[in-house]
Amino acid sequence: MEKREELYRGKAKSVYKTDDADRLILLFRNDTSAFDGKRIEQLDRKGMVNNKFNAFIMQKLEAAGIPTQFDKLLADNEVLVKKLDMIPVECVVRNYAAGSLVKRLGVEEGMKLNPYTFELFLKDDAKGDPFINESHVVAFGWGTAEQLARMKELSLKVNEVLSKLFDDAGLLLVDFKLEFGVFSDGSIVLGDEFSPDGCRLWDKDTKKKMDKDRFRQGLGDVIEAYEEVANRLGVPL
Ligand SMILES: Nc1ncnc2c1ncn2[C@@H]1O[C@H](COP(=O)(O)OP(=O)(O)OP(=O)(O)O)[C@@H](O)[C@H]1O
Ligand SMILES: [Mg+2]
Repeated sequence: MEKREELYRGKAKSVYKTDDADRLILLFRNDTSAFDGKRIEQLDRKGMVNNKFNAFIMQKLEAAGIPTQFDKLLADNEVLVKKLDMIPVECVVRNYAAGSLVKRLGVEEGMKLNPYTFELFLKDDAKGDPFINESHVVAFGWGTAEQLARMKELSLKVNEVLSKLFDDAGLLLVDFKLEFGVFSDGSIVLGDEFSPDGCRLWDKDTKKKMDKDRFRQGLGDVIEAYEEVANRLGVPL
């Protein structure tokens, strides 16, 4: 397997072609962004921690029957993945109120949501990743009703599997964001990454934030918290 030219450079990862038309390499950089890319900093070890964390989670999900992009770890900062035609919609599942939900609805942070909520956002930094609903996805052609139904089904299954996994490690899975894409065989597959950059994790007892909110809110010890989460889960770093 050979690494070819850079296809795309995102805010946190770079995407490379390979000699296999169905495979890409994701390179996790140390760049850490917040507020739709308006604030960017370099955090030591972040690329490595997120790459290994993501590989661990994707393999747990795959074992639970969720189709993921994961193929194999190539290096500390690189992973080989299935090449997907990404659907530009972020699927967000929330178990407790936090972030934009608190701002939008004025509810208290930490309020238990019963049941969980499922939300969609358009992946478009220039527009501030606006809140959208299922009819927008179909009307604007970002995905079909069938694809959307599958994305929702898989998102809720991910919630089930990971809520338990984090609970066993003494952590609350507050919320998370997923991106899906279409593989060459037409199936919907979980893409991008699952890491503390794209979810909220709180210590079950102290409610200490262990995710990217430490960066957004200037709480410090960002990567130290990511590493503690990884250690609690048994992710080899
Ligand atoms: N398996 C995959 N196949 C194709 N593209 C992928 C895959 N996994 C992730 N991507 C895309 O690669 C990019 C990853 O880079 P990164 O997460 O840094 O970008 P981003 O800044 O969040 O996204 P964007 O610049 O698109 O808003 C994203 O655009 C993501 O949708
Ligand atoms: Mg991203």
